[in-house]
Amino acid sequence: MNESPQIVAGNWKMNLTLSQGREFLRRFKEFMGQSRPPRQLLLAPNFTLLAGLAEACGELGIGLVAQNCAPQESGAYTGETSVAMIRDAGAGWVIVGHSERRHLFNEDDELLRLKLQAAAAGGLRPIFCVGETLEQRQSGKAAAVVLGQLETGLEGFAGAGLMIAYEPVWAIGTGQTAVPEDARQMHLEIRRFLARRFAGGGLIPILYGGSAKPQNAAALLAQPEVDGLLVGGASLDPESFWRIARA
Ligand code: PGA
Repeated sequence: MNESPQIVAGNWKMNLTLSQGREFLRRFKEFMGQSRPPRQLLLAPNFTLLAGLAEACGELGIGLVAQNCAPQESGAYTGETSVAMIRDAGAGWVIVGHSERRHLFNEDDELLRLKLQAAAAGGLRPIFCVGETLEQRQSGKAAAVVLGQLETGLEGFAGAGLMIAYEPVWAIGTGQTAVPEDARQMHLEIRRFLARRFAGGGLIPILYGGSAKPQNAAALLAQPEVDGLLVGGASLDPESFWRIARA
């Protein structure tokens, strides 16, 4: 169990325009005025919103996260966004290896390893996502898959600033959440791996993600191995994100 404050991170995916993002923060600020959650808050809007939301997020103490980054430093890579550009836009973290990147855009562990290293070299703190599919879980391979993703992705990574998000693929956007006990078990496996791999690795925050919502956030956050949540759909509404943050 990590002694630092728990983390609640919202991943907006490809949702919300800049004006909608501003409106979200305006309303979120009202909820924060009622009661400020005792947790570290992060938000991952689309790249096009980062610079425009940086100031308002800063005022609310919300850390800005990019949803992806290029493995290359700069150059002829049309459509890509570098770590330096992300930092310049005001973000301090980046999600690497989200299951939608892995499964819809064919990002493999080797590419993710390069992205993790690019993030570390450029001073962005990565939130590295891992997780098994339903088929892998049903065939008893969940832990092997997750540990394999960590093994390859983190090869050569020094560990500074790292956060892990365990997101079982079958739980993302499906309304089906892992039972808190299953989440705790997998977090423990991940924790042991990190403790073997890095000095002080047992303190690396491990978030749970996959259909987290106000109704189940408290039970998930109460698990001793769960250091926080990565929230997709339920982070698009300021009230539900605030309720999760306070759960
Ligand atoms: P969800 O997404 O909360 O909508 O399931 C989680 C995520 O993809 O990070």
